[in-house]
Amino acid sequence: MIDIHSHILPSVDDGAKTLDDAIAMAKAAVAEGITTIIATPHHRNGTFENEKQSIIEHVYALNEALQMHHIPLSILPGQEVRIHGELMDHYRDGDILSLAETKYVLVELPSNHVPRYTEQLLFDMQLQGLVPIIAHPERNSELVEHPNKLYELVKKGALTQLTAASVAGKFGKNIKKFSLQMIEANLAHLIASDAHNTTTRAFHMREAYDVIQKQFGSPAVYVFQENAQLLVANDTLYKDAPERMKKKKFLGIF
Ligand SMILES: [Fe+2]
Repeated sequence: MIDIHSHILPSVDDGAKTLDDAIAMAKAAVAEGITTIIATPHHRNGTFENEKQSIIEHVYALNEALQMHHIPLSILPGQEVRIHGELMDHYRDGDILSLAETKYVLVELPSNHVPRYTEQLLFDMQLQGLVPIIAHPERNSELVEHPNKLYELVKKGALTQLTAASVAGKFGKNIKKFSLQMIEANLAHLIASDAHNTTTRAFHMREAYDVIQKQFGSPAVYVFQENAQLLVANDTLYKDAPERMKKKKFLGIF
C-alpha cells in the first residue's frame, strides 16, 4: 500500500517532532501494510515553510535511519502546498516540490473557504503540465456546503485526495458521510493518511479501505490503491470509478 500524504519527516512541521517519533510512525505504517510513503511537509501555510531542496535532504536522512533500523518502508519526497497567488512563480523559482517528483502537486485549501483565484490557479498549473491534487476537500467547509464547487474544480482537471481518517469516521459523522458521497459521485481519486503522529492523527489506512470495501466493494479499493501506484509512476490515474458506483443524485447537477 502507498500513502501519498503524510507528515512523517521529523522536526519540519506539526508532524513527527523527533526522529524517534518518525520511526514510531514508520513502524505503525508498516503494521498497516504500507510500503511507501510520500512525505509532504506543510509549505506556506502561514506557519511552516519547507522548500524543495530542504525536503529532499530530510527524506534522504530519514531513509538512511529507516534502513539502520531495518524498517521496510521507503520515503519519497513531496510537499503539501497551501494555495497562494504566487504559487506558479515559486514553482518556476524551484521552491515547489511535486509528489515523488512527478507531475502531481498536492495543493491545500484553507479549511473554511475556497479563495476566488483557485480555479484560475489550478488551470495555470495544468498549462505548465502539472496536475493539482486537492488535499482533503472533505474537510473544507465551503466545499462541504457547496459540493458543486468541488464538482467544477474536478471537471476542470483537478484531482482530489480523501483523508483515510475522514472515511473511517475519525473526523465525525458528517465528514464521513460527505467522503462517502464524494466516492459515490466519482469525485475522489486517492485515499491518503495525512498522518501527523501515531495517536491523535494516525494513519487509519486499513480502516478506511475496510469501510470502502464494505460500502463499494473490491473494485473501488482496487481503483484507489492502483491510483496511488500510478501516481508514483507518474502515470495517468483512473478518473472513473466502476460504473455501478456512479450515483448521480449527490449533486443533482449531472
Ligand atoms: Fe497534510
